[in-house]
Amino acid sequence: MSMNFLELEQVARDWTYEAGEKVKQSLENPIHIESKSNPNDLVTEVDKAIEQFFYEKITQHYPDHLFLGEEGIAEELTSLEGTVWIIDPIDGTMNFVHQKYNFAISVAVYHEGVGMIGIVYDVMSDEMFRAVRDSGAYLNDVELLPVLERPLEESIVGINARWLVEGRNPYQNPLRALVRDLRGTRSYGSAAIELAYVAADRLDGYICVKLSPWDYAAGAVLLEEVGCKISTFQGKRLSMLTPNTVIAGKPQLHKEMISGYVGEEL
Ligand code: IPD
Ligand code: CA
Ligand code: CA
Repeated sequence: MSMNFLELEQVARDWTYEAGEKVKQSLENPIHIESKSNPNDLVTEVDKAIEQFFYEKITQHYPDHLFLGEEGIAEELTSLEGTVWIIDPIDGTMNFVHQKYNFAISVAVYHEGVGMIGIVYDVMSDEMFRAVRDSGAYLNDVELLPVLERPLEESIVGINARWLVEGRNPYQNPLRALVRDLRGTRSYGSAAIELAYVAADRLDGYICVKLSPWDYAAGAVLLEEVGCKISTFQGKRLSMLTPNTVIAGKPQLHKEMISGYVGEEL
């Protein structure tokens, strides 16, 4: 029997609210922080506990589903066959630690490689961005409208200022030119929230030199549901198994940002 993704989204949403409550409660106590690949790549016991929470729920209720999470609790995935949950337990851990605000739980379900469910829950502002493929996208209970285009010079794009100065980043110059030509830029410190903001028409686009599948898996479902595009800088489909460059936006802007700025293979 084929899976009912509307029903599954309801379950995923309930678990996400439950996880959000746990994250909020954790803020009442001191948070233990560690760093991962570099001193600014932070992780806390809350990230791990939330991933564990989802992993247990999913294996208990859907034993044949697979799991891909940032903190690596499950076995490594080598293919997207079957039904795969792609989860970032806290996206924006630096904000979680420093601001106690502006972080999200990102939950996606992919079926045979196709994004079926996307949930981005901004815990502190209690904003849940959610979509089921071909069934519309919502912010809490309000349906998101198909996006309206704006010219590039009137557009606001999410980008982390670090990409304009990082010495080892080959896209520094095209990104500087893009930032010069846009109306403005914003940086919220959570890729998942920024992608959700594009879907909700709070940003016109979002761009990042390197992200991992759990950062954009849910955002991609939201974006496609409102008619936006998301791809690598070269316009290719994003892999859900390896890191990628990521560019998202309204279709015309997405196209122009690629062809006029970052599309060249470097
Ligand atoms: C990070 C956030 C951030 C982005 C980083 C990600 P994390 O995720 O999405 O906005 O710039 O590249 O790694 O580590 O907070 O889950
Ligand atoms: Ca992340
Ligand atoms: Ca994370």
